[in-house]
Amino acid sequence: MTSEELGLCNIEDLRQIARKRLPRPIFEYIDGAAEDGIALRNNREVYRSLNLKNRVLRDVSRRSTATEIFGRKIAMPFAISPTASAGLMCDGGEVALARAAARMGVPCTVATNSLTPMEEIVEAAGGNLWFQLYMWVDKELRMAFVERIKAAGFDTLLVTVDGSVGANREHDRKSGYAMPLRYTPKLIARVLANPGWCLRVLAPQYLKRGPFRKANYPAEFSSKLTDKPTDHELTKPDTQCWDDIKRIRDIWPGHMLVKGLQSWEDVVLAADNGMDGVVLSNHGGRYLDSAPAPLQVVPEVRRAVGDRLKIIIDSGARRGADIVKAIAMGADMVMSGRPTLYGAAAAGEDGAYRALEVFQTEMNRVMAQLGLNRIEDISPHVFWNPPDWVPRPKDARVVEQIDLPTR
Ligand SMILES: Cc1cc2nc3c(=O)[nH]c(=O)nc-3n(C[C@H](O)[C@H](O)[C@H](O)COP(=O)(O)O)c2cc1C
Repeated sequence: MTSEELGLCNIEDLRQIARKRLPRPIFEYIDGAAEDGIALRNNREVYRSLNLKNRVLRDVSRRSTATEIFGRKIAMPFAISPTASAGLMCDGGEVALARAAARMGVPCTVATNSLTPMEEIVEAAGGNLWFQLYMWVDKELRMAFVERIKAAGFDTLLVTVDGSVGANREHDRKSGYAMPLRYTPKLIARVLANPGWCLRVLAPQYLKRGPFRKANYPAEFSSKLTDKPTDHELTKPDTQCWDDIKRIRDIWPGHMLVKGLQSWEDVVLAADNGMDGVVLSNHGGRYLDSAPAPLQVVPEVRRAVGDRLKIIIDSGARRGADIVKAIAMGADMVMSGRPTLYGAAAAGEDGAYRALEVFQTEMNRVMAQLGLNRIEDISPHVFWNPPDWVPRPKDARVVEQIDLPTR
């Protein structure tokens, strides 16, 4: 039976199945956020607060969500965000995500902290794969790692820069899922309380590959989830600065982006330092709890940098309508992390594909309801009575003559 026939209509349905199929600490690790969850909630609330104007009696029979990014065609302006430990969702979780993305025709970003080696994912899934880099403290090892990413065949590199210090995720500390992992009686009891996951995910992992490891780490690093990191392998150094980015730019021939920016000032610096794009992201609410939703900062960022680089956003997208809203706000593309993780936990590769299908079919339907045929037609015209921070349509005069109700 397909996931649609099973009644999995939307991302929230997949989330509810994931909640049942994962041990509680692992579900909380993917679902939860930093501190009080303010940014997590705001990410959703901002999307939900924007109304769209329907338009009727337009021929929308030729509509398409397809577009392109960095010279490659994609099925919709969407990509899978990098997520550490996707391998905990289902057996070979990272390959499941990458295959789902290749089937749909959208990019998938492989994380530095993936539990499957990057070369294995490329081999098993192919498709339009991007790589997310956390910079090692040791500069030589860092550069060697970049060379390895290049040799593996990736052409788009996305450097995550918002984690200069570890996140304050209190729920992980309470549930026992904080890194390095400690096999406390509480954690063991909670994992064993889900024998289905132990059979589906844990047992095949141990039989085929041994304990879970950060599989991309160089051999000289200890990489089991239970290992305490040494100073060398720290991936969140608080010394990082634009010079580090410049050094990588000098040796990376492909497209390069920085991820985790929230201010127009930093995006201007990204453009000045030769980036091809930025991912505006608050890490899905997992780092700075008082961060704005990336959707809210798109207009000021676009005003500051114009078309000098691609503006991609993630954090909070759960509906096809959200992608339309982000593009109308001025973004080039949307990424998302948790939805395909929920899908992979619910039903492996098919579940991750279902998450992508939900985004795509919803986006296609909303475009028809708004009277739009092409991604290029999506503009601020689609918003009904938007708040002040939303850009006005270029011919807004017509609208301003009408006495609009205020919210
Ligand atoms: C379980 C999990 C692990 C993540 N690991 C990483 C990571 O290793 N590197 C990174 O740049 N972002 C990581 N992120 C953040 C995502 O790339 C993305 O910014 C976030 O999920 C977007 O929010 P959304 O889940 O609401 O779409 C992770 C997110 C989750 C949920």
